[in-house]
Amino acid sequence: MENRDVKLAEKILSLKKKRNAVILAHNYQLGEVQDIADFVGDSLELSQNAARTDAEVIIFCGVHFMAETASILCPDKAVLLPDINAGCPMADMITAEELKKKKEELPRATVVCYINSTAEVKTESDVCCTSANGVKVIESLDAQEILFVPDQYLGHYISTKTDKKMVLWPGFCPSHIRILPEHITQLRKEYPQAKVVVHPECRPDVIALADEALGTGGMCRYARRDDVKAMIVGTEIGILHRLRKENPGKKFTPATEQAVCPNMKLITLEKVLWSLEEMAPEVKVPEEIRLRAKAAVDKMLEIGRG
Ligand code: 13P
Ligand code: SF4
Repeated sequence: MENRDVKLAEKILSLKKKRNAVILAHNYQLGEVQDIADFVGDSLELSQNAARTDAEVIIFCGVHFMAETASILCPDKAVLLPDINAGCPMADMITAEELKKKKEELPRATVVCYINSTAEVKTESDVCCTSANGVKVIESLDAQEILFVPDQYLGHYISTKTDKKMVLWPGFCPSHIRILPEHITQLRKEYPQAKVVVHPECRPDVIALADEALGTGGMCRYARRDDVKAMIVGTEIGILHRLRKENPGKKFTPATEQAVCPNMKLITLEKVLWSLEEMAPEVKVPEEIRLRAKAAVDKMLEIGRG
């Protein structure tokens, strides 16, 4: 950490104590933000942590739908998102109104929404899932027909692992579609010993070239295996900070440096400190929406990890 960051970190840690706050950070956050967090993890782990913390304040270093999920699970806590503009373009690729219309076309379908969705979209869904438990969630359902929103690529990946009929909403992650098959083929030539691990938000032709498709938490666990000495990482590049920190001596190469989520990068140490000082910006899901969205999130948490 640079000297300036060390000073900011000290201020954050002392104010965090005073406010009885916990700092949760996603695996894609800037390295210096990950380093001051109480917990760094994937979407599922972050929602599980938010559900069980006894802190009064949650500083959510991630994007808007993640802070909304924390607010859905912890209505009595203040959930702060240090930059209110940190959104997820994929989550905004479907609205509750659009989903309602689609449901009318498919009255028998069970609606599964990726956790990367707005609270309003969750109110129109039967159950949520993350990249870590999508297959398990869908396999656990009685239904034979599934409407999956909003990520067509995660949906497609899950459809290759189940016999259920899946209708996919055409959303996608603008950061993950930057990872191309030619990136993987080129890096396989350069690093023939390396394992190739990609996120299921990647295009199917990229997933087809990988050794594993895993969510970010799964990638961190996979990297710790003794037989993994080098890894080509097909996801947002913020995760490389954690992979390198936890596995000194192993080699991690991004599939492409272009796989950046600009929204994740909006959270900085300055904004975390400002958030704690001002107790803002707060993300609070209105009670009427919260209660309906909570049913889908609770159902997912009951099913657990894949
Ligand atoms: P994970 O749940 O795998 O951390 O993914 C979250 C996300 O936003 C991926 O783009
Ligand atoms: Fe959304 Fe993609 Fe960013 Fe994840 S990486 S938060 S899916 S835009």
